[in-house]
Amino acid sequence: MGSTGAGAVVGLCLLALMAVASIGLVHATLTPNFYDRSCPQIYSIVKAEIKKAVKVEKRMAASLVRLHFHDCFVQGCDGSILLDNAPGILSEKFSLANNNSARGFPVIDTIKAALEKACPRTVSCADILAIASRDSAVEVGLTPEYQVLFGRRDGTNASRELADKFLPGPQFTYEQLKQNFSAVGLNETDLVALSGAHTIGRVRCQLVRLFGVNIPDTNAEFRANLSKACPNASVDFSVLQNLDLKTPDKFDNNYYKNLRRGEGIIPSDQTLQNTDGPINRALVKDFAQNQENFFKQFPISTIKMGNIGVITDRSKGQIRVNCRFVNPPSLIEQVLVASE
Ligand code: HEM
Ligand SMILES: *[C@@H]1O[C@H](CO)[C@@H](O)[C@H](O)[C@H]1NC(C)=O
Ligand SMILES: *[C@@H]1O[C@H](CO)[C@@H](O)[C@H](O)[C@H]1NC(C)=O
Ligand SMILES: *[C@@H]1O[C@H](CO)[C@@H](O)[C@H](O)[C@H]1NC(C)=O
Ligand SMILES: *[C@@H]1O[C@H](CO)[C@@H](O)[C@H](O)[C@H]1NC(C)=O
Ligand SMILES: *[C@@H]1O[C@H](CO)[C@@H](O)[C@H](O)[C@H]1NC(C)=O
Ligand SMILES: *[C@@H]1O[C@H](CO)[C@@H](O)[C@H](O)[C@H]1NC(C)=O
Repeated sequence: MGSTGAGAVVGLCLLALMAVASIGLVHATLTPNFYDRSCPQIYSIVKAEIKKAVKVEKRMAASLVRLHFHDCFVQGCDGSILLDNAPGILSEKFSLANNNSARGFPVIDTIKAALEKACPRTVSCADILAIASRDSAVEVGLTPEYQVLFGRRDGTNASRELADKFLPGPQFTYEQLKQNFSAVGLNETDLVALSGAHTIGRVRCQLVRLFGVNIPDTNAEFRANLSKACPNASVDFSVLQNLDLKTPDKFDNNYYKNLRRGEGIIPSDQTLQNTDGPINRALVKDFAQNQENFFKQFPISTIKMGNIGVITDRSKGQIRVNCRFVNPPSLIEQVLVASE
């Protein structure tokens, strides 16, 4: 073959590559109907498992809402938080914000196993986190049910270092929180709305606002009550406090009402109300007075968060078979025509 022939072959290969790349581009955005043909059972399977898990333990709804957040802020929504320690993988589960804190992994395993049975190697772990978060919030009070977008592929690595860098801390000031959210493309509306997830769930006593950062406050009765519940910064991880004292397991707008009375549990919570700014306090007020506005914004911001750094190109990432581990090399990836 002459040099022109070789050039033609190279050219054809390039064209083929470009065609593959453009097919990838067709799937560059998440869609609500991604599994409608390849795994329509996803909706009923996840809903049933979430119902079961929340019935066993109310708090599980909160833990699962948090997992999606902690996934998306670290290298995007790629299921990285689910990876266990393994050769080459330093699990994010032991990062500052997750160690002795992130939970719900066995529930994700159960959902994944059920989905692998119904539609093998089709539903990504990152997508499971997104729908589990929605179904959890809805199960404990968020209404109406919003549409989840799908089509994320799972990443093949994790980073404890990036988890430490990207997950905000409970002692952060409003400016620091704002910066961390903006680092992943989220703004103040998203920050205030997504923080409303603290209307459910628990916090370890050592992280409540009595210790570390001293937030000026005038609510002495609240402080006395909190001191009774958390007498010291106990190192016992099992000593917990509700994030919303009024309705601890109900997804509602009480979180914002609490903030306006100076009853935020974590320092970062109370800064949303106590910081002078053109947006935060007005939004807290709006969400406290109009639950429907919170219920409208929370899904919008969750969907925005769910789009952070997603892998949609089929030449990248994978559909993990076990959410805790990257697929072994022996497992040759099928090219799945998920929803053409
Ligand atoms: C704004 C910055 C945020 C900070 C500093 C923060 C910090 C925290 C801390 C310190 C805890 C308690 C962890 C423990 O003691 O083990 C917690 C719990 C929780 N967080 Fe956040 N969080 C933030 C934003 C969010 C967002 C955006 C969501 C979800 C949309 C979320 C959902 C939750 C939930 C549901 C819990 C309770 C989890 C459980 O009971 O297992 N948080 N958060
Ligand atoms: C996680 O917490 C345990 C205590 O339960 C501690 O021994 C360990 O050093 C922590 N891991 C990291 C990476 O900080
Ligand atoms: C993880 O993998 C992605 C894609 O290959 C890469 O861009 C990223 O830098 C990797 N991150 C780490 C922490 O290795
Ligand atoms: C988040 O905020 C902390 C505190 O200001 C900062 O150290 C960290 O670099 C921030 N992370 C990102 C990704 O901006
Ligand atoms: C945040 O971004 C959304 C669009 O994603 C926009 O509607 C909203 O006005 C923005 N909020 C602020 C405070 O800029
Ligand atoms: C403090 O606790 C008492 C007794 O449980 C309760 O009646 C009161 O409403 C609480 N006050 C605040 C501000 O939390
Ligand atoms: C913290 O308070 C608990 C009671 O709630 C007590 O049993 C424990 O000894 C205290 N720890 C410290 C270090 O004071």
